[in-house]
Amino acid sequence: MSLEILKPLRERLLHRDDGEKVELPSRDSHVRNNLILHLHPSRVPAQALRFSYTWGLGGISVVLVLLLGLTGLLLMFRYDPRVEYAYVSIQQLETEVMFGSFIRAVHHWSANFLVIASFLHLVRVFLTGSFKQGRSVNWIIGLVLFVIVLVGNFTGYLLPWDQLSYWAITVSTSLMAYIPLLGTAVRNFFLGGPQVGQAALSNFYALHVVFMPALMLGFLGYHLWKVRKNGGISQPLLKEDEKPEFKATNPHLVNIELAAGMVVLVVVGLYAMFNPAPLGSIANPMVSPNPAKAAWYFLGLQELLLHMHPLAVMTLLALTVVALAITPWIDRDFRDIGIYFRSAIGRRAAVFGSLLAVYLVPLAVILDEFWYDVPGWLPGVHTNITVGIIPFLITISVFVGIYFLLKSGLLFKNEKTNHSEAMLGVFAFMMTGLILLTIVGIYFRGQNMALVLPF
Ligand code: HEM
Repeated sequence: MSLEILKPLRERLLHRDDGEKVELPSRDSHVRNNLILHLHPSRVPAQALRFSYTWGLGGISVVLVLLLGLTGLLLMFRYDPRVEYAYVSIQQLETEVMFGSFIRAVHHWSANFLVIASFLHLVRVFLTGSFKQGRSVNWIIGLVLFVIVLVGNFTGYLLPWDQLSYWAITVSTSLMAYIPLLGTAVRNFFLGGPQVGQAALSNFYALHVVFMPALMLGFLGYHLWKVRKNGGISQPLLKEDEKPEFKATNPHLVNIELAAGMVVLVVVGLYAMFNPAPLGSIANPMVSPNPAKAAWYFLGLQELLLHMHPLAVMTLLALTVVALAITPWIDRDFRDIGIYFRSAIGRRAAVFGSLLAVYLVPLAVILDEFWYDVPGWLPGVHTNITVGIIPFLITISVFVGIYFLLKSGLLFKNEKTNHSEAMLGVFAFMMTGLILLTIVGIYFRGQNMALVLPF
C-alpha cells in the first residue's frame, strides 16, 4: 500500500524535466558512496590525483596496517605466549596449520614493509612541505604513528622466541638502559625485570596484540580525519588567474586507491609465498650469537653506538626527534607547499645533502674502524669527552655547517638557498645518512661487529 503511494514520486525521479530517463542509484552504490564520502570529499582537486605526488604511500601504509590487523587476529588463534610453548606454537603453525606459514609470512613482511612505506611517506611529506598551512598537528600525529609502527614491530619481534628474536630484543633493550636517568626503569618496565624472560614475553604480547593496535587505530583514525579536515592533501598554491579544477572522487580517486591497494596485496602475497618468515632455533639465553644484532630498523642506531658514547647517541636521537617535531614551526613559509623540493635550487640543495652523506658517512665509518682513535691520541682524557662530546660536536657541526654553507650561496654560483631549501639539504643529509648506517649495520658488520664485506 505505502509503496503504491510512492509510485508517482518514483516515476518523477526516474524522468528528468526534459523527459529523459535517468537511472536511480542502487541501494548498494548508495551505501558504497556513503562509505567513500566519509573518507573523502565528493570532489577532489585534479592535482591531488597525480600518483607521482604521493606515490600512494599513505594509502599503501593503510592497506598494510589492515593486513597486519587481519593476519594478526588469525595468528592469535594458534600462538601461545608462554615461554615453554611460544616457539613450539609457531613451529606447529608453520607445519600443521593450513596456510599457517603463509599467514605468518604475510604478517611478518607487511610489518617490515610498513616501516619502509611509512618512512618513505614521512620523507615525501617533508619534501613537498606538506606539514605547512595548518597541517602541523597532522605532521606530529604522523610522527607518533611512525613511533607506533616501530614499537609495534619491536614488540612483535620477541614473540617467536627463537635465537634471533631473543637476542635482538636483549640487545635492543640494553640500548634503552642508556636513556639518561630513566634508562633502567624504562628497560625494566618493558622486560618486567632485569632480563628477557616470561615477564618480558607477557609484556610484549600484551603490548603487541592490544595496546599498540589500539593506539594505531586511534591515531590513524585521527590522522585520516585530519587529512580530510585540512581540505584534503596539500597542493601547490594557485596562481592569481588560475581556477581550481575538480574531479569526482568516485571513480577517479577511488579507482587509483583500489588499484594501488590491489597491487600491495599481490606484491605482499607473492613475496610471502616465496619468502617464509624466518624462524631460527629455540631461544637459548646461554648462547649468544655472534654478532648479536638489533632488529634491522634499529641497526642504524646500533651502528652509531659503535662510534659514539651511548649518551651522545641518545642526545643526538632526542635532538633529531625534537627538530622533526618542531619543523612546521621553524619552516613556516607556505608559498612553496605542494612543490617537490620547494624549487629548482631546493632540489640541488637536497641532492647536495644526499651526495655529501653518501661520501662522508661510509668514509667516517671506515676511518673510525681503522684509524680514528681519539682515546689513544688523548690519553688521560675521560672517554665521555673522547667518544662522547667530541664525535657529538663533530656531527652537530656537520648539520649546522651544511645549513650555513647552503644559505651562503657559495655552492650554486651565488644563488642563495632560502631557509626552507637549506633545511631540506640538512634533512636529505640526515635521512641518507640514516639509511646508509642501517645498510652498514645490516650487511657490513660481522663477528664482534667488525667491518666486513657482505660477499
Ligand atoms: C602508519 C603510518 C601512516 C599511515 C597509515 C598514514 C596515512 C596517510 C594517508 C592515507 C594520507 C593521505 C594520502 C597521502 O598523503 O598519501 C596521509 C597524509 C599525511 N600524512 Fe600520513 N600516514 C602515516 C604516517 C605518517 C608519518 C610518519 C608522517 C610524518 C611524520 C605523516 C604525515 C602526514 C601528513 C602531514 C599528511 C598530509 C599530507 C598532505 O597534505 O599532502 N603520516 N597519511
